[in-house]
Amino acid sequence: STKTLDVNATSAENVARLVKLLPADLRTPRVGIVCGSGLGTLAEDITERVIVPYSALEGFGESTVSGHRNELAFGKVGDVPVVAMLGRFHPYEGHSLATVVYPIRLMADLGVQDLIITNAAGSLNADVPVGTIVVIDDHIALPLLTGLNPLLGALSRPTSRRFVPLSDAYTHALRLAAFRAAHALGLPRAALAEGTYAWVSGPTYETRGEAALLATAGASVVGMSTVPEVVAARDEGLRVLVLSLVTNMVVGIVQGTGVRSVREELDAELAGQTLQRPPTPTVSHEEVLAVGKSKAEVMRQLVERIIISLPST
Ligand code: 6GU
Repeated sequence: STKTLDVNATSAENVARLVKLLPADLRTPRVGIVCGSGLGTLAEDITERVIVPYSALEGFGESTVSGHRNELAFGKVGDVPVVAMLGRFHPYEGHSLATVVYPIRLMADLGVQDLIITNAAGSLNADVPVGTIVVIDDHIALPLLTGLNPLLGALSRPTSRRFVPLSDAYTHALRLAAFRAAHALGLPRAALAEGTYAWVSGPTYETRGEAALLATAGASVVGMSTVPEVVAARDEGLRVLVLSLVTNMVVGIVQGTGVRSVREELDAELAGQTLQRPPTPTVSHEEVLAVGKSKAEVMRQLVERIIISLPST
């Protein structure tokens, strides 16, 4: 029941609508921003703001996840015209991949050249604690490898490439700009890390074994978003920066799993001993939102600084 958007038709219509709604100096945003869970305050940086609800546009879904609004914010960061998505769509909400990536294609049609994506993610690496912002330099996406790929099907544009390389999807100059911005802001060295994002489709969190698999494969963080958007952005030829905020440690990575052999448990019981069973840790969306809130200010400053530092084109 995957609904396929006619991206070209829809986009032309939406561009025409937006041109009517926006003052001339905001119609061609240079930078697109995607705000992750709890990171909507990024938009507070935007001056001369014009808000367009998703409901005013064709082909947009509604993000049903708490912590996501459903608006595009146009305006400026410094002198740079930007557009920010407040609320993104995830495949686990039942949105088709075409819907998930459609806003990225619209941004490309509007003239966006650099895309900054933020997200909340779980850490798979004991050296990457809660609160760290991870500058993503690669991804591992089992869903892409096994057939859940936004580029399946007809070419998105007549000029699109059939086979889009992703070996260098995360733009070097933007990653460097992120570290420069953190330095300029005087952030502690540990505030920023570099690493690989593992995309899982969700909405279930990983099992212990799956987390171990992804960590062994070299992923630093895991989350349920971003990669479809990155794929579409690379299809569109955009430069891409992804910043993952670590909101929790993935179960089993640091705090132990709380799981032990029930055979040993029974043996101990039969021998007249009682074993203390450590509590089984879990992850909750509330925890994810709370860390997003507390670190949103750092993320906001960082994104602002990066945008202002971009060379004019
Ligand atoms: Cl632990 N897993 C996934 N898949 N996504 C997350 C997360 C964990 N924490 C925040 N987002």
